[in-house]
Amino acid sequence: MTTSETKEQSTGGCPFTGRQKVDLSDISLTDPIIQSNPRDFYWTMRTEDPVHYDEKLGMWLVTRYEDIVTVLRDPITFSDKQGYEAQYASGFFEEFKQILESQGGGYFPDVIKSDPPEHTRIRKLMDGAFSAHRVKMLEPGITKIISDLVDTIADKAEKGEVVEGVREFSIPLTIAVICEQLGIDQFNGEKISRWSEAITAQIGRMQNREEMVENAKEICDLQNFISEQMKDREAEPKEDMISDLVHSELDDGTKLTYGEAVSLVRALIIAGNDTTATAITNLLLILATDSKLAKELYDNCDDDKFLNRFVEELLRFAPPVRGLAKMAVEDTELGGQKLPKGAHLLVMYASGNDDEEKFECPREFDMKRKNLGSHVAFGVGIHRCIGASLARMEIKVAARELIKKIDNIKLTVPVEELKYQKTVATHAIEALPLTFSKR
Ligand code: HEM
Repeated sequence: MTTSETKEQSTGGCPFTGRQKVDLSDISLTDPIIQSNPRDFYWTMRTEDPVHYDEKLGMWLVTRYEDIVTVLRDPITFSDKQGYEAQYASGFFEEFKQILESQGGGYFPDVIKSDPPEHTRIRKLMDGAFSAHRVKMLEPGITKIISDLVDTIADKAEKGEVVEGVREFSIPLTIAVICEQLGIDQFNGEKISRWSEAITAQIGRMQNREEMVENAKEICDLQNFISEQMKDREAEPKEDMISDLVHSELDDGTKLTYGEAVSLVRALIIAGNDTTATAITNLLLILATDSKLAKELYDNCDDDKFLNRFVEELLRFAPPVRGLAKMAVEDTELGGQKLPKGAHLLVMYASGNDDEEKFECPREFDMKRKNLGSHVAFGVGIHRCIGASLARMEIKVAARELIKKIDNIKLTVPVEELKYQKTVATHAIEALPLTFSKR
């Protein structure tokens, strides 16, 4: 990702919207080259075959902004639950389930990845915990966590050492924040990071059997950890989110079952980690590759409105989530394409954010664009991201603290050599080696 792509231009109008057609019959989202550089693939689909069947993946890729929003606004025709389940541990599901049942206390489906009315029941419970108001109150505590982490990496860089942005900054940051929210005070960040990767791999469609077995064992470990945390709160409630979930009563007078509570704590530990960490890694990359933007940020780093606009455009320009699954529950039509009942869709949020029919000159990083907030990085509709306010705040505070304390941030490898995680679900840089100086 660079903020001004300069390839030969094949669409009119925008100085930086160079696109090159690819041969759709020949290519899959799972191909390594597409994994790293997907934008020409997205663009070719949007212009030639907007609801495109990816043979290798066995899924329909929904690529136009308009069709993405249509799917997300119709959760009855396009089931989140069925789409997610068909994707989960794909190809190895029975064996995966057995491992969890024998070593991880049970197989607990993700209760938030459900359809109404079940989803409505659970979602109401979760919404309050991450409201914009509550997140605002968390800002001072989160600023302290982030400021300390920036000091640590700044000290290291000051000694002339290379800092690896993903493992030394973005991931520890998001893990520390979510553990604080959940009330997990003793935690091993590396373990939580491995658990996150293991869960994300279940919807990534790119693990082999050996990797699935390894990942399933990590998830067992995670569930056993959650179970211990829940037992502690059952014996002695605390002022934290796990206690709230364990003791919560839902609107219909029921309580969460044990499996539902495990699945929700698991979702909270995992859903916001890799995603927010990726957004913060993208922030580091922009600071390292666009000195003009870095300067603009420095000049405005105490202007909250400016920072908010920066964060929105960053999420549009470089969305961490690439695609998530839904399933058509009846024969239907989408973007001119007939879809049979059971069609497995991958909703390509990343392509929607890059759609020139919606965003003028989408490859330009433009904080002044009028429809800044219309991006779909957090989804739309009833499954819209629960943690959006928290994530936005983490990215904003990270931008402010980084820009205030460090300068001359540089990548130590060419941008083209950056590697991305192997998954269709996210678009996440694996490692970002950086040098910089203290201000
Ligand atoms: C930049 C960071 C993040 C991005 C880009 C992101 C993106 C998304 C997206 C695209 C969805 C799916 C919407 C759909 O199905 O259409 C989602 C759902 C969700 N996110 Fe996030 N997310 C982020 C951070 C977080 C955080 C910090 C948390 C919690 C601590 C979180 C928790 C969830 C949960 C629980 C759901 C499921 C909601 C539902 O199905 O009702 N996310 N997120």
